[in-house]
Amino acid sequence: MPKEKPILVTGKSYYAWRFKEHTKTKHDMLQCYLEKWFIILGKYHPVNYFDCFGGCGAYTSDGIVFEPGSPILAAQAWLNKGNKANELRMICIEKKLGNLDNLKKVFADYLPNLKTPYFIQDDFDHSVNAILDDIDKSDMVLAPSFFFVDPFGFTLKYSTIKRIMSVEKSEVFLNFMYDAVQRHLTNPIVENCMDELFGCEQWRDIGECSPDKKEQAIIGLYRDQLKEAAQFVMPFRVCYPDRNRTIYYLIHLTNRLEGATIMKSCVAETNNGVLSYLGKQKDQSTFFETSSYKEEDLRTLLIELLSLRAMTFNEIVAQLIDSTPYLEKDIRTVLKLLRNEGLVSKTAVSSKRDSAIIDDDILTLIG
Ligand SMILES: C[S@@+](CC[C@H](N)C(=O)[O-])C[C@H]1O[C@@H](n2cnc3c(N)ncnc32)[C@H](O)[C@@H]1O
Repeated sequence: MPKEKPILVTGKSYYAWRFKEHTKTKHDMLQCYLEKWFIILGKYHPVNYFDCFGGCGAYTSDGIVFEPGSPILAAQAWLNKGNKANELRMICIEKKLGNLDNLKKVFADYLPNLKTPYFIQDDFDHSVNAILDDIDKSDMVLAPSFFFVDPFGFTLKYSTIKRIMSVEKSEVFLNFMYDAVQRHLTNPIVENCMDELFGCEQWRDIGECSPDKKEQAIIGLYRDQLKEAAQFVMPFRVCYPDRNRTIYYLIHLTNRLEGATIMKSCVAETNNGVLSYLGKQKDQSTFFETSSYKEEDLRTLLIELLSLRAMTFNEIVAQLIDSTPYLEKDIRTVLKLLRNEGLVSKTAVSSKRDSAIIDDDILTLIG
């Protein structure tokens, strides 16, 4: 698995890793989403943030400018937007003692007033299952929890991701290391590892696929598996900054429609409206962009959907959010156009204004 070279940060007692453009994208998406997630779920409850592969806490491009690692970013998101009347419980899991010690130093230096996170030096899979076992044995309920699962390689167990998602109000943001997976797909030494990653044996059939079908086959199979664990599963493609090739997919799993719509908007917001990070290659298509955004496609899709039956706005968004390239706001815009053209009518349930279309408003195809 790749190793990061430590770079000493001028004037600090800790080291950092080289900051890469795709890491910035990953961090921007995470921070954008967490700021919104903390506002919504932290309003009435304490919340948990699990950084399951915590890292060393710091990045730098030049050894001088500091860029925070994911646990620090999450803490900042809480400080920026969280409801301080409730508590953030931050749990940082990291297998390597050196990285964990470094992370502690970064926290102490950068966020000295933050309530100290729980630092666990352990394997992610072991420690998360131990925490969930303890909760199962007690009559406690886990507070709403966000799990950031960001390994270097692909030693991840599908069963553990599924278990996390079986806990009410849990969400996962997961880094699926596509490039490493595709390279090792026919390596007999990692067969067990692949079985655990996919939670099935069908990945073996993909070895036969032509190279142009391989990527869709791998990410498609993994997504299908994850759909057994969560209602909304959205993979976002991340390319190498300088090559026309996928490095990984960031996959968001949630059982809340609002979570899915917000994450998708965050990804678009952090990537100039595109639902993936394409590096210097801006002309590629992605899982969500097999057809680029076209109002016409969405019109056809909405008319087809509503020809089956009248639906609430939320039902329509739930149908389309993780299987099409459209954002919630795109769906609303086209429904409004259809309404203005007299093709669709609205029965107001949630909206107060005539022009609005929200939540439980019912949309019916006319004629
Ligand atoms: C990609 S880095 C995490 C980066 C961090 N999420 C960030 O964005 O700042 C992966 C980290 O996981 C740690 N690690 C590797 N195997 C692990 C395991 N089985 N359990 C927990 N941590 C592990 C590595 O030492 C490394 O620090």
